[in-house]
Amino acid sequence: MTLSKIAKLIKDGQPEQQVEVAGWVRTKRESKQAFAFLELNDGSSMTGLQVIVDDSVPGFADSIKAITTGASVRVVGVLKESPGKGQSIELHAAELTVLGTADAQTYPLQKKRHSFEFLREIAHLRPRTNTFGAIARVRNALCAAIHNFFQSRGFLYIHTPVITTSDCEGAGTMFQVTTLDLAKLAQVKTEIDYGQDFFGKQASLTVSGQLEAETFASSVGDCYTFGPTFRAENSNTTRHLAEFWMVEPEMPFYELNDNMDLAESFIRTILADVLAACPEDMEFFNLRIEKTILETLRNIIDNDFIRLPYTEAVEILLASGQEFEYPVSWGIDLQSEHERFLTEQHFKQPVILYDYPRSIKPFYMRCNEDGKTVRAMDVLVPRVGEIIGGSQREERLDVLTDRMAECGLEPEDYWWYLDLRRYGSVPHSGFGLGLERTLLLLTGMANIRDVIPFPRTPKNAEF
Ligand code: 4AD
Ligand code: MG
Repeated sequence: MTLSKIAKLIKDGQPEQQVEVAGWVRTKRESKQAFAFLELNDGSSMTGLQVIVDDSVPGFADSIKAITTGASVRVVGVLKESPGKGQSIELHAAELTVLGTADAQTYPLQKKRHSFEFLREIAHLRPRTNTFGAIARVRNALCAAIHNFFQSRGFLYIHTPVITTSDCEGAGTMFQVTTLDLAKLAQVKTEIDYGQDFFGKQASLTVSGQLEAETFASSVGDCYTFGPTFRAENSNTTRHLAEFWMVEPEMPFYELNDNMDLAESFIRTILADVLAACPEDMEFFNLRIEKTILETLRNIIDNDFIRLPYTEAVEILLASGQEFEYPVSWGIDLQSEHERFLTEQHFKQPVILYDYPRSIKPFYMRCNEDGKTVRAMDVLVPRVGEIIGGSQREERLDVLTDRMAECGLEPEDYWWYLDLRRYGSVPHSGFGLGLERTLLLLTGMANIRDVIPFPRTPKNAEF
């Protein structure tokens, strides 16, 4: 007999069906009349399976004694219709094997509410809780929805490198990758010779796969890269990670408006897909984590996004009479308080801001004729702020090299990127969606550290 998933049994299990399941005991209730109830969870769904064990099961007394919350067991038995409330089916055990015990004195996940701060310290056990099990399933469904969206539209999935020698965002927040002996270098006070380093020059973990994705957009057409990205910015906020996942589509022949259309339909489609794939988990988030989450998501799915030039957004912020911690003026990089005001209070809808000041945006964005702005677009959503950053790319070689000089970049370091503008250059566009920011939007969780299995943030890389 093969193991059945509890999610499947709860959905399609038939009375009198013989099954075998395995998982972790959430609760045990013993009755005086020589039987016990176990609530068994295998992670396939929020709801566990009620297992009834009586003294006809071989080794009944010893097994039940050994089982506490957190113990792992394997059960063979027969499904019966359940007389109890809250479940339609239960399992009557014929055989019960205790696979692993969990010492009740030390097992940290007892049946009570634990704070998210505490659970972060036991990130290796937290997926056994309702909340973190649900997050894992929703994260999985979101990734599947992302791939489906692009695959069904003929986009190629491209693997861009994690180790890179070029800085895409030009913000100097990269983690260096080196095999040089730092202890030895600290003793001899000479210039570091990166020629001696593993790659023969300075290398880092990537902040974005965009530049490499552009090479494929300029050859095989619509494509996307989806992987981990790394930023050494020392921002200890609830929305920043040092390691996060980003999905970055890149499309030839797309101008900024086409890019906005794709971003909007992308967000609406993947949110709708996750709602359809994980109804039980999403109900849980709405009930236990954030009471407005389903309403917010339906609003996003059903309504067109607002589209607004940066300049008009600044005017709205200035006219708002709102006291902001960071004062607003044309040219500032908008802070999350400004973004949230626009999307939560002013428009109460997702907003796509475009045509940002060139001074605050990276070198690769296409310059507008006004000489002041670039064809950038950020998608802002309620509770989270910026969820997507993207742009039309500068495809004109001369403008791009001027812009690189303005940003203090050496054209030789980007020779291959410039080649794309030398040989068959085309208008093209793309964007990056932060996976964890999307999960904050989907689950209502307040801290980005709780929507990635093992968060990396300043001073924290445990597990
Ligand atoms: O706006 P960003 O920096 O854009 C890029 O990296 C472009 N190269 C993308 C592209 O056009 N292909 O980052 C894109 C998104 C942000 O909107 C945000 O959702 C997420 O990535 N993000 C972060 N998420 C978590 N922690 C961080 N430190 C993040 N930085 C950016
Ligand atoms: Mg951005």
